Order: sequence, then structure tokens, then C-alpha cells
Amino acid sequence: MPATANAPGLDAYWMPFTANRQFKAAPRLLTAAEGMHYTASDGRTVLDGTAGLWCVNAGHGRRDIATAVERQLTTLDFAPSFQMGHPLAFDFAERLAAVAPGGPEAGLDRVFFTGSGSESVDTALKIALAYQRAIGQGTRTRLIGRERGYHGVGFGGISVGGLVNNRRMFPLLPAVDHLRHTHDLARNAFSRGQPTHGAELADDLERLVALHGAETIAACIVEPVAGSTGVLIPPVGYLERLRDICTRHGILLIFDEVITGFGRLGAPFATDRFGVVPDLVTTAKGLTNGALPMGAVFASRAVHDALMHGPEGSIELFHGYTYSGHPAACAAGLATLDIYAREGLLTRAAALSETWADAVHGLANAPHVIDIRTLGLVAGIELSPRDGAPGARAYDVFVDCFERGLLVRVTGDIVALSPPLIVETDQIDTMVSILGEALARVA
Ligand SMILES: Cc1ncc(COP(=O)(O)O)c(C=O)c1O
Repeated sequence: MPATANAPGLDAYWMPFTANRQFKAAPRLLTAAEGMHYTASDGRTVLDGTAGLWCVNAGHGRRDIATAVERQLTTLDFAPSFQMGHPLAFDFAERLAAVAPGGPEAGLDRVFFTGSGSESVDTALKIALAYQRAIGQGTRTRLIGRERGYHGVGFGGISVGGLVNNRRMFPLLPAVDHLRHTHDLARNAFSRGQPTHGAELADDLERLVALHGAETIAACIVEPVAGSTGVLIPPVGYLERLRDICTRHGILLIFDEVITGFGRLGAPFATDRFGVVPDLVTTAKGLTNGALPMGAVFASRAVHDALMHGPEGSIELFHGYTYSGHPAACAAGLATLDIYAREGLLTRAAALSETWADAVHGLANAPHVIDIRTLGLVAGIELSPRDGAPGARAYDVFVDCFERGLLVRVTGDIVALSPPLIVETDQIDTMVSILGEALARVA
């Protein structure tokens, strides 16, 4: 296809997690964004029901972020990240430490910068392994993930992850096992907030300890709310129980907060929302409002300090990225934190969550809907799959919504909604109404 302003040639770009041939036959291109809306290449306005990809928490086109990035790029575009530093990375880490998951008592205030969620996950897993070795527990090399977990696409992340399509083609880390997932339609369908049943599923970790021996297990990683796999909200008491089992057996608990971090659930982090404090927290996405790629791992003082040993001139952790603490990304992150603080966005979802739940649960009787789950400003609407064509119905809903001016996200037969945290109630009504009409239209 010849390139024009809004219709470039499509062949060269190999798109991620996309049905490339299907997409290129009927492309959906976004060309601009402002506030709660995208503009599509045909000029239509599209309401953003997904904060981009769970990342644009403060809404699109924030001038303060753009100005800060421009200023930084024209002042100091890049500084080497190994054995050198620049002030903004230290500033940003300090500012993050001040709002760290769990507040000051949790002590999760040591920050390692990465370039993405996947890098944050692999970083946290490596820190956990290094920590266990540093405290004389070098036999602890096993990592525990969970079925239906999504932890990005690094080899560590897909190994602890629990999505078969992301795993089946690739060799995985050898010493990994998985908890069962907590999704239970039979007992928990149409829950608002945390479902009632399933805390006992955390005891799977006891089972794995009995099977492998605690002295072989370094860490357990879970998403507090599983996002990409279809909005799976933890049953009441589940995370507390997991924390307790980890503590009893010397296993580090890692919360992957790449989606739940920075206000999505109505508190700054899921750690705050659920009152359960892990040892490491992975973040990305909302860290810079999605404006530039960046991730951050919050580590507890105990974990960090255990690694600050050995001769003073020795590198404590042989790990890091060219773009760890990139100056422009730090500038974007600092400007993002200012916006979050000024506009109260890290807790705004709490005030909206009842309105949100009322509106989305209004779709309970819409065609094809077999479950709705909501928490903070997240919703999962699960559809019955079409016979012999899993995922096809939700995909049709996604395309129908896009054509009528709403961006939703689908995974399998689940429609996920996670609008920017600046969303207004009339926009929530619009989302639900477009989605309801799409559900009525699709076969
Ligand atoms: C929980 C979780 N972890 C990790 C990742 C990977 O992040 P990235 O795509 O930035 O590598 C994602 C992305 O959606 C995620 O939801």
C-alpha cells in the first residue's frame, strides 16, 4: 500500500500481539489523542475505555509531561547509567520512594529503574534470586507463578506467567511451578469488588512447599488483580494468606503492579488497596502516564540492604539496562507524579468506583454476558464463547465498539475496561451504552 499521511505502507511493521494479516487487511489506526479521546485516521473521535494499554492514567496529551520531556532532551538527552548518574534519576527515585507501595512503614523505598513491565518482572525475579543467595539461602532457585498470570514477555516473565499461548513455543526457566488461578465462575459470578470464595486457593503454595521443599523456593509472584488475562480480582483473604505462607517459609512475595500501580484500584497501589505488603513490587505503564517507556521495581530495605555487602568497590548486582533511569523518562515520570498529586488521581478511582460498578453491572442482562467483575476503575465483562470459535465473539464486540467510537480491550472472550482515571460519569455512561449496543448487535 502506498504511504500517505494517515495511511502508511503497512508491510514492514511486524506488529506485537496482533493478528498481522487480519489487521493489515482492515487496519485501525490512531493518529492523535487528547484527554479521554483518541482520533482515528478517518477523523472519528474514539472514547478511550482502556487508558491506551492500561497506562495513560492521567489522560492523553498532558502538556506538562511534553514540556518536561522537551526541556530534558534539550538539556541532557542521555547519560550512561552504569557507574555514572544524573540528578533526575535520583530525584525521581526519591519522589517514588515517598509514595511507595504500602506507605513509609512498608519500607518498599529502594527503586531500580527499567525500561518496561517485562524488564521490571525479570529484574524483580533476579533480585529475589540474588537476595536469597546473599543471605545464605542459595538453594532457593525456584520461582512460583500462577496460572493465568501475565508478567510480560521476557523468559522469566513467560516462565512464571500462566498463559499457554505465550509459553508453548519457547523453552522456559527450569525451576518454576504455578499456583492455580482464582477465577471461579460457579461460586463468584457477578461479584462487585472482591469475590467471596477462594481464599483457600492460596494454600496451593503450601502444597508446592510440601512438594519441592521451602529451601528450594526463592519467590512467588502474582498480579494482585490479574489484568491482561481478564480482570481476575483476588478473593477476600487470598492475598493475606499468600503473604502469611511466604513469610512462614522464607519465600519472597512479589506483587506485579504494572497494571494496578498508580491509582487504578482507587489507592496508589494494590498493596495499599488490599493492605498486604510484599517484598518487591514491579511497576511500569502509569509510571510515566505511558508517555515514554519506563518501569520501576520497588524493593524493601531488607532485600536491598542484604545485597549491599562485599568490598566497597564491587558491583552489588550484575544487572541493569542502558535505559535504566533514562533522563527523558525520569522527566516524564516526575511531571506525571505532579499531575497525579495535583489532581488527586491516585485515589480518584475510589470515589468513582460505586458509580462505575453500578454502570457496568447494568450490562448483567445484556446478550452473551456470563460474568461481570469490577474493582476501582477496572471491569471485566465475560462473554459466553461462540461454539468452536473461542475469542471470536469478544473480538467482534471490540471491532463494533471501535467503529462506534469506543476503545475496549479483549482477551479471549473477556472485554476489559480501564479508562483513564480522569473519566467523568457521562463518559462512563457512554462507554456502557456503546458496549451494550455492541453486545446486542454481535451474533
Ligand atoms: C501485570 C503485567 N506485568 C508485566 C507486563 C509487561 O509490561 P510491558 O508490556 O511493558 O513489558 C504487563 C503488560 O501488560 C502486565 O500487565
